[in-house]
Amino acid sequence: MEFKGANILSVEQFSIEDIRTILRVAETMEPYALPQKKTRVLEGAILGNLFFEASTRTRLSFGAAFNRLGGSVRDVVGFQFSSMAKGESIYDTSRVISGYVDILVVRHPQEGSVLKFAQATNIPVINGGDGAGEHPTQALLDIYTVYKEKEKNFDKLNGLKIGMIGDLKHGRTVHSFSKLLSLFEDMKFIFVAPEQIQIPDKIVNQIKNAGHAVIQTDKLIEGISDVDVVYVTRMQEERFNEKENFSSYQGYYTINRQIYDKYCYPQTIIMHPLPRDSRPQSNELDNDLNNYKNLAIFRQTDNGVPVRMALFALLLGVVDKIQETESNVQWYVPS
Ligand code: NCD
Repeated sequence: MEFKGANILSVEQFSIEDIRTILRVAETMEPYALPQKKTRVLEGAILGNLFFEASTRTRLSFGAAFNRLGGSVRDVVGFQFSSMAKGESIYDTSRVISGYVDILVVRHPQEGSVLKFAQATNIPVINGGDGAGEHPTQALLDIYTVYKEKEKNFDKLNGLKIGMIGDLKHGRTVHSFSKLLSLFEDMKFIFVAPEQIQIPDKIVNQIKNAGHAVIQTDKLIEGISDVDVVYVTRMQEERFNEKENFSSYQGYYTINRQIYDKYCYPQTIIMHPLPRDSRPQSNELDNDLNNYKNLAIFRQTDNGVPVRMALFALLLGVVDKIQETESNVQWYVPS
């Protein structure tokens, strides 16, 4: 795809070559993300960071990524503090904000809403999560994480076996990540969830049509015992309707060190888009794994910054100009 000026709305827009490009650029961003060096390439540019749903890492890492490239960030957080609370439409909001900023990131509770933002403006729009729909940048940082955990060998992403566990119906990260992974070859997906909150059939069919193996089960052990990656997700409490009865799924699956040691291969990595629900009645990923080397969740969150920097640089057309304004970091940075 042509990145300059594009929107990032769904992983369905990417080819395998696009993924390769994003990972390659993300790697070049690492020194600036750490930060070992700084660049001012986006000095003067402004990001509009619009979050109409709860967020910690997505909003902050988008903001940090833009700042690390030298740009400024303006946040709108929550409907109650935007004119949408006064009845303003997505169309008007998007058109107005486009007069103030150079690029938009939007998170919104309604599926398809970020597309509406994009249709109303000529600046690039990035989907930071649209309801139960998609979360394309999370999928990109997830694939970047697997790539780094697998010795940075792009070809080793083929043939991957992955167990996805939790709320696969409402979890947009699973939707985006599974579709993105199905661009590779010879994959095996094991979707572990109670039947009522299994992954949508549409996505299963897309994956099967791309020639991959799919197993759907409600048994945790089947999803963790013969895989390269265990991808745990949160029960999406805020997306359950009254009939779906969230509390009956709370704590449905727990992975702790004992379960890992008993059932997983010693090299299996554990991922989670976070936040993990650490309330005692949920405890989907136990704290006793926190210092375990194969727990990749905090490396995964760190990876959000270089991946989002790469997207900004690609969409704003400055990939080749990063080094022009490079200088040393003056402040204390822990090793
Ligand atoms: C996810 C999301 O918002 O979809 N969080 C994130 O962005 N890393 C996952 C979740 O909320 O469970």
